[in-house]
Amino acid sequence: STARITVDREFTIGPVPRRLFGSFVEHMGRCVYSGIYEPGHATADENGFRQDVLDLTRELGATVIRYPGGNFVSGYDWEDGVGPVDQRPRRLDGAWHTVETNAFGLHEFVEWSKRAGTEVMEAVNLGTRGVDAARELVEYANHPGGTALSDRRIANGAKDPFDIKLWCLGNELDGPWQIGHKTATEYGRLAQEAAKAMKFVDPTIELVAVGSSGRSMPTFGSWEHEVLTHAYDEVDYVSMHAYYQEHDGDAESFLATGVDMDAFIEEVVSTVDGVKAAGKHSKRINLSFDEWNVWYQTGLDTDDQPHNVSKGWVEHPRLIEDQYNVTDAVVVGTFLNSLLRHGDRVHIANQAQLVNVIAPIRSEQGGPAWRQTIFWPFARMAALATGQILRTLVTSDRIDTAKYGDADLVDVSATYDEETGRLAFFLANRGLEEAADVELALRGFAGGRVTRAELLTVPEGGDRFTSNTEHAQDAVGLVPLTGVAVDGGTARLTLPALSWAV
Ligand code: AHR
Repeated sequence: STARITVDREFTIGPVPRRLFGSFVEHMGRCVYSGIYEPGHATADENGFRQDVLDLTRELGATVIRYPGGNFVSGYDWEDGVGPVDQRPRRLDGAWHTVETNAFGLHEFVEWSKRAGTEVMEAVNLGTRGVDAARELVEYANHPGGTALSDRRIANGAKDPFDIKLWCLGNELDGPWQIGHKTATEYGRLAQEAAKAMKFVDPTIELVAVGSSGRSMPTFGSWEHEVLTHAYDEVDYVSMHAYYQEHDGDAESFLATGVDMDAFIEEVVSTVDGVKAAGKHSKRINLSFDEWNVWYQTGLDTDDQPHNVSKGWVEHPRLIEDQYNVTDAVVVGTFLNSLLRHGDRVHIANQAQLVNVIAPIRSEQGGPAWRQTIFWPFARMAALATGQILRTLVTSDRIDTAKYGDADLVDVSATYDEETGRLAFFLANRGLEEAADVELALRGFAGGRVTRAELLTVPEGGDRFTSNTEHAQDAVGLVPLTGVAVDGGTARLTLPALSWAV
């Protein structure tokens, strides 16, 4: 099979938005407890932060982390998570049928983020709460001092304001499963008023309105339209969420789901711009794809499925700890390509979640932490996609899929960083059987050389289902991609079947 990809130094889409490499920490399952936070763990520091997980977070290269939910935030009182830990209440979290101890809260997350080198993206509860709690949280977090709420933060140990710039106006309120689910009109008005009040407290913040929980939601499209008809002037971004999985062994369709992600993004852009035109707005609203990943929501019957979790109330049970394989890593590579190719409009994206819960990093209580297969495309793209996003013209053999028709066999995104002189390509071969010979036409880039080429594919003796586990932590990783040849303005390489390469 063959593919020809053309880039031109002059044909750029825009700068790489660094917030595209975001992640997500929800109070769900073992993401916080025994994920990032485990006092008593051999690697824990004085705050109870696991250093093994912190190291992997830095290596992953996450830039911004959404917190504290997710469905959790729609029933959460932020006040429960601040103040002396021994006085914090134990609460029932209805979203995940879990006892929340509140041992970890806002101060701990801000401190952890400093050490991880990540920006905080804080979500407010617009499920059970409203305008008042939202503006109070902004005051508590961001006001320097001299008011009851900001002085309470100082008394709780944080003299300097947290200076949180990025805020989510609730979570998935279009979903009937959400605590405090709303109609688009109810939510649109609430988001507008909460946004106003929050910006009255701190006009420098940026706000994300809740968009659809998925492209297949019955209200998709009309939800965004209605919400923004109310809140266009007050908000800066609209959110998108998408989770994909392989169904019934149809690997071809699964490998092509990036096509669905592309279409979803383009439909939200159109909807948002339609509201802009109709409302005679001059400001442009961009997208925050603040939950995305592979998630096996059906077909698994493991103990960590929400419906199998003990009906009793327990603290941090195992929840949706998906174990990712080679196929998943290639698919995640194509999702990252889709996000990057749309980086002119998708300015924020958060892979859900960071640790244990559908995550690139896994950890065991009292045990090790390791990288899942999907860690690699994320980490490499976060490190190497800098500078400008290049437009890519692809002429590729096609694969036939039951779900998405035919799709490019080879999927790609590319960046060029003038400062370092680095041109980076992120490539996926969706073919299950055949290698793909790829020709890269590098217009305006003659005279370069290959400094690094890496590959993730089926390891020797493995198959497309091979995963990294506690006892085989490095079964799937990056290996050198050999045989990349550059000749003037053309590079040639071969991608093995089912592979991702940089
Ligand atoms: O990331 C897991 C869950 O998926 C989140 O809590 C929710 O927002 C989404 O439905």
